[in-house]
Amino acid sequence: MDRALTLRSTTVGTKAIMAVTGAVLFGFVVVHMLGNLQLWLGAQAMHDYAVSLRKIHGVLWIARAVLLASVLGHAWSAFTLVRRNAAARPVPYKHARRDQATNYAARTMPITGVVVALYIAYHIMHLTLGVGVAAHDPQNPYNNVVNGFSNPLIAVVYIVANVLLSAHLFHGGYAWFNSLGLSNPRYAGMKRAFAMGLAGLITLGNVALPVSVLAGAVKPTTETFCSPELGPCAGPGVEPGR
Ligand code: HEM
Repeated sequence: MDRALTLRSTTVGTKAIMAVTGAVLFGFVVVHMLGNLQLWLGAQAMHDYAVSLRKIHGVLWIARAVLLASVLGHAWSAFTLVRRNAAARPVPYKHARRDQATNYAARTMPITGVVVALYIAYHIMHLTLGVGVAAHDPQNPYNNVVNGFSNPLIAVVYIVANVLLSAHLFHGGYAWFNSLGLSNPRYAGMKRAFAMGLAGLITLGNVALPVSVLAGAVKPTTETFCSPELGPCAGPGVEPGR
């Protein structure tokens, strides 16, 4: 008897998983970028923002679980689709295809996807866990970011990764409409404008942060903070619960 068709076993189902998880990740990147812009409001604003994310008990962990499931689902569906495509066309195209509205971004999706995954792993080690960062202070996300970006090598890694992310978001945003059935060429201009506009704004916001630190417009603070939500406080003399 035939195996029941499931979401995971059909190409349409796999693309649906890719579209839903992609939308969740896109939403996260927009919200995260807006949160990061608080760097320009100063250390207190960033500290308070980090505390507020942890104030509603359990919400941060639920969001983290949804994010992790989305990253894994997205990577699995990408890997599955690339493998199925390769099996369906063992002989590669003689000439690069030029028929896709976002062609260069489309062809480099697997590469930009892997780069973004590596970037996220590095980024969590750098700013959430503070691996290898001597002055990492969980109470002071502002200084963690500013001290990090004061190192030109780290700033350049962030800038390059965020530019590559924009290519991924551009094609992803465009292809998302196709997954929803909006594949009529009549809508190509609108889809391109939407995907390019949104990917451009996200990248502009994220790249502006290391650039403003490198340019000396944002400097480290000597302020200290201590809120139990953010874990242990740095050293004596800090007023608890500030
Ligand atoms: C210049 C741009 C960025 C800055 C300044 C930045 C800043 C930060 C900071 C300060 C944290 C730690 C928050 C905390 O522990 O309270 C963080 C966590 C994180 N960031 Fe970013 N971020 C940037 C871009 C991105 C991008 C583009 C992505 C995804 C593609 C991303 C994904 C994450 C993830 C997954 C976490 C871990 C969240 C958690 O704690 O579970 N970030 N970021």
